Amino acid sequence: MYKDLLTLRDINAAELEELFALTTYFKQNRGKVGCTDLKGKSIGLIFAKSSTRTRVSFEVGVHELGGNPLYLDSTKMQLGRGETVSDTANVLSRYLHGIVIRTFSQADIEELARVATIPVINALTDDYHPCQILADLFTIKEYSKTLDVKCVFVGDGASNIANSLMLGAKLTGMKMVIASPKEYAPSAAILKECAPYVEWCEDPAEAIKGANYVYTDVWVSMGFEEERAKRLATLAPYQVNKALMALAAKDVKFLHCLPAHRGEEVSADVMDDSNMSIVFDEAENRLHVQKAVMSMIFRNLAK
Ligand code: CP
Ligand code: NVA
Repeated sequence: MYKDLLTLRDINAAELEELFALTTYFKQNRGKVGCTDLKGKSIGLIFAKSSTRTRVSFEVGVHELGGNPLYLDSTKMQLGRGETVSDTANVLSRYLHGIVIRTFSQADIEELARVATIPVINALTDDYHPCQILADLFTIKEYSKTLDVKCVFVGDGASNIANSLMLGAKLTGMKMVIASPKEYAPSAAILKECAPYVEWCEDPAEAIKGANYVYTDVWVSMGFEEERAKRLATLAPYQVNKALMALAAKDVKFLHCLPAHRGEEVSADVMDDSNMSIVFDEAENRLHVQKAVMSMIFRNLAK
């Protein structure tokens, strides 16, 4: 991870270890020590889609590192009226020191990063959500002290979360199974890239056997609202509920990137089970891990 974080392909195992050590440091010392890696730096946060966690954790994170976060609603930018990604990258590189961007097309952020002379961090596209999965892996390691665990993702196997989680399994050697219907099966190319760490299985009851972690995501991701009825019908047998969780390992933990839809991808009794559900620790870790990502990138550039 030198300048950009566009997918988890941008980080290697040694960098992940360094990142998690820094994340732990930020988490343990929050509010105690002044870390000034972003002092005097302005970071643009461009959002083309809704956000609660990502926006707030990045705004607070930039501020805590001594920097100045600028929230930019892309529909109010000229980008939203047809100015090219390339011209936007050139202009913003003259004002800002870094860009965090949530948008639809992965190709757009790849182009933004190619043209921009400043770091670009992917805050979610239709295809990937690397910052989320870094926080998830950190959370698993906090709970289990190791990533030598079995994590089963149940639901939309073609989502940005499933794609990034597969890359996360490859990065760490974590064993992962995706349980999804054929219509929402994981990308064959990413499955091949992440073999032998990731497998696909249509039957959630079979997949979940021995799972230490069960992860799900919404059935209707942002940008896919027109497919809502079809998705809800096809994915209905993939709800994470107490009956399914009973087939997992003893002490299984439940993960969800949030926002959650109780009664759809997860039942309320799983989501709200304080012994099983670790979703708020997971959400909190977004802040600590993203501070570590930004610090590492700016420390690397300063070398
Ligand atoms: N998990 C996540 O990225 O949440 P937001 O959409 O609220 O940012
Ligand atoms: N797959 C979801 C993730 C939200 C954080 C979406 O893209 O809407």
